[in-house]
Amino acid sequence: KDLAGRTAFVTGGASGIGLGLARALLAEGCKVAIADIRADALDAALKTLDNAEVIALRLDVASRDDFAAAADEAEARLGPVSLVFNNAGVNLFQTIDASSYDDWDWVMGVNFGGVVNGVATFVPRIKARGQGGYVVNTASMGAFLVGPAPGIYTTAKFAVRGLSESLRYSLAPHGIGVSLLLPGLVKSNIYASDEVRPESLKADAKPTDAAWVERLAGVHQSGMEPDVIAARVIEAIHANRFYIFSHPEFRDEVREVFDEIVAAFRDYPPDPGLEQRLGFEATR
Ligand code: NAI
Repeated sequence: KDLAGRTAFVTGGASGIGLGLARALLAEGCKVAIADIRADALDAALKTLDNAEVIALRLDVASRDDFAAAADEAEARLGPVSLVFNNAGVNLFQTIDASSYDDWDWVMGVNFGGVVNGVATFVPRIKARGQGGYVVNTASMGAFLVGPAPGIYTTAKFAVRGLSESLRYSLAPHGIGVSLLLPGLVKSNIYASDEVRPESLKADAKPTDAAWVERLAGVHQSGMEPDVIAARVIEAIHANRFYIFSHPEFRDEVREVFDEIVAAFRDYPPDPGLEQRLGFEATR
């Protein structure tokens, strides 16, 4: 797929993976809109990108109205968007039993709702134009590997996976590719997520633990460079590859998950009457 001349829209594009994607897309000859909730980070990103083919848009991906307005502005200034990167995300390390409705609304609203809004805004436009396109949704290894701490985050990333897997099959006949990005640890500013939590969803939130955030910042410093991730994403788009596992070291853990699932099947006899009752062959 030649990406040159196409217009890309990258959410969370002011930092981390999104900024890496923007840089890689510009190098591919794309026009790029970076959309982010942080105005300061957008300004800084424009300076580092230093390219006439990129614009910055203020956007809260959790807002449907804002999303439509940002899409309109991107298309008015850069032409029809055919490459969409639903990448904005926040983290929250908190078990589900310790989480409030505000926590759910914030993390699901950004990490899953943001992807829903990106798809609902852009996919009908891309389909209607009939020129093909591509959607990349950023999940996480957390969409496969689960621990107790990031409970809502994990839930949202599983939902992004489900959405993307289904979207992939529905868009294939329209020449629109879909990939699911599943990174491990990345060098980014995601440790600072608390700073972009809206006031309206803060009433029932635990106070920020500064010492923990500082530790997390250190951990993320040793993560993979966003430019390396972005190169793997571009490669996957060219190959129309759905799963983008940027971090190969998780292969065996993923295998263990699926081994447990397969082993959980019992040798019950198949339901002999099912196909007859359905009136057709029971496949997925
Ligand atoms: P980052 O914090 O450096 O970049 C994310 C950007 O999203 C920030 O600029 C932030 O301002 C923006 N953002 C947050 N809430 C927003 C909202 N409501 N509307 C618009 N923009 C918003 O973090 P990073 O790591 O680059 O995150 C990108 C994606 O990668 C996220 O979906 C994250 O869950 C995922 N990811 C990150 C990993 C890591 O180790 N950093 C690992 C696996 C997945």
